Amino acid sequence: MQITAVEGLGAEITDVDIKSLSDAEFNAIRDAFAEHGVIFFRGQDTREEDHIAFAERFGDINVNRFFAAHPNYPQIALVAKEPDQKDNIGGGWHTDHSYDHEPALGSVLVARELPESGGDTMFASMYKAYENLPSDLKEKIEGRTAIHSGKHIFGEGPDSYYNTSDAGTHDEGTQRIGNASVAEALTDPEHPIVIEHPLSGKKALYVNPAFTREIVGLEKSESDELLAELYAHVFKGHDFHHRFKWEPGSIAMWDNRSTWHWALNDYQGQRRIMHRITIEGCALDA
Ligand code: SIN
Repeated sequence: MQITAVEGLGAEITDVDIKSLSDAEFNAIRDAFAEHGVIFFRGQDTREEDHIAFAERFGDINVNRFFAAHPNYPQIALVAKEPDQKDNIGGGWHTDHSYDHEPALGSVLVARELPESGGDTMFASMYKAYENLPSDLKEKIEGRTAIHSGKHIFGEGPDSYYNTSDAGTHDEGTQRIGNASVAEALTDPEHPIVIEHPLSGKKALYVNPAFTREIVGLEKSESDELLAELYAHVFKGHDFHHRFKWEPGSIAMWDNRSTWHWALNDYQGQRRIMHRITIEGCALDA
């Protein structure tokens, strides 16, 4: 097995079959995941059971409350876009589950049906985003916390950056995810803006445009301004972005605590079907 860092962030893991990992191989994969934030595999011939077994080695599976589930495997959420849908799931920079008190560790995404072209996924490193943050911005967020929520996205409100490929638009396609009663029952958590990563111990920036609502202790306008500065820093940080091109048999596993991702929506009229399994995480500390 070989682990090779890729441009921006992440590592590609080759010469391995995720169906038959020894304990030593699995431990090396888990370490690479903690260090690089996202790991990629190519040419994996997997069935749903293999996907589930691989994910379970990392922890308990979080059964998604908002996405459609695989008809036979409730542990697998469908990240699907049909040819008649305009918007996709995850079509803007975000990290999953920050609206939970114990945000999920990460997700294992398996490509099942790909468009002829397009449909790449972008990743951004929140370790590097924090490291590269100008010192005045580091000072402004030192010791601060922010409130996160999923209500505006999975609940009834139509106003969603996450659901739209182009902020400000919204169409029928987005109705295929959501669960208003569950979303409305969520209690919004407060997380540190800079977390100490539970696996690597490294500092990571932990706010995201989809789910972070406001910085605690600031006026709304000041909070919006500071969040916008932090997001602009990540949007511009091309040296800590990676664009992953999917192929049949590709798998990506990302860490929700140390990365953002964005599913590009540039394949209108084509189908893209991905299977996602999310793994439970833990409360996050500064
Ligand atoms: C997601 O945000 O979970 C979807 C990522 C993708 O489809 O590439």
